Amino acid sequence: MNKYAPIGIFDSGYGGLTVLAEIKKHLPQYDYLYLGDNARAPYGTRSFDVVYDYTLDAVNELFSRGCELVILACNTASAKALRTIQQQDLPKIDVNKRVLGVIRPSAEEIGTITKTGNVGILATEGTVRSESYVLELDKHAPNVNVFQQACPMWVPIIENQKYQTAAGKLFIQEDIKELMRQNPQIDTILLGCTHYPIIQPYIESIVGPDVRVVAQGPIVAQKLDEYLKRHIDMEQRCSKSGAITYLTTENKDVFNKKAGHFLGEQISAIHVKI
Ligand code: DGL
Repeated sequence: MNKYAPIGIFDSGYGGLTVLAEIKKHLPQYDYLYLGDNARAPYGTRSFDVVYDYTLDAVNELFSRGCELVILACNTASAKALRTIQQQDLPKIDVNKRVLGVIRPSAEEIGTITKTGNVGILATEGTVRSESYVLELDKHAPNVNVFQQACPMWVPIIENQKYQTAAGKLFIQEDIKELMRQNPQIDTILLGCTHYPIIQPYIESIVGPDVRVVAQGPIVAQKLDEYLKRHIDMEQRCSKSGAITYLTTENKDVFNKKAGHFLGEQISAIHVKI
């Protein structure tokens, strides 16, 4: 029998749950270890160095708990920390372990969906400023025009479940309007923050039926499946008993309540210090 080697799924808070939900639907056989750094979220407005340090802490925690493969299910961490971790840290930590992000797989897909060639990205300030989507789309879909809108209030609004209040709705509407004002021909919007699918129906109701709103979860799940098929050695190292464990750096009762709400099922998390 394989030793316990879950696939690690990391996010600053609750957003990665939208990715985990799709991954477990698509690949239910694997074990998963989710880590939310809720005590230090949100990451979106933090500097490059801070996001890198926090993300490396999280990756090390997941490695120390048996993960061979970690997915940064957070765009901000993928934008600001992934490359340094892959190039600088992994060779020192363990050359056989892997850390993957969510920006590249999304950029590979989004260019195939748009018909007008105008794509909007809604994301945190950190992700927008990093220009990661502009750079990745330039590589994978050079003919696509990219328009970005930072939504600094959305993660706090979502985490505090204020998206159904008048004030919460106003912030969301304003940012979408700003994005569409940049180019009314935008026909595809990528939710470039893993928290945003939680409010996807509301976003869709604002942009209307002619604009396709794309969440990353299904894309990441599909790409992970393809990755594991291409990397048989890694696939064999990942343990398969279908178990999901949740870790949070915040109070576990608060996490259980909110995560349960976002996932639509009750969970029981473990508190960790990282
Ligand atoms: N879910 C994270 C992302 O995809 C949110 C970052 C934050 O904590 O602000 O970017």
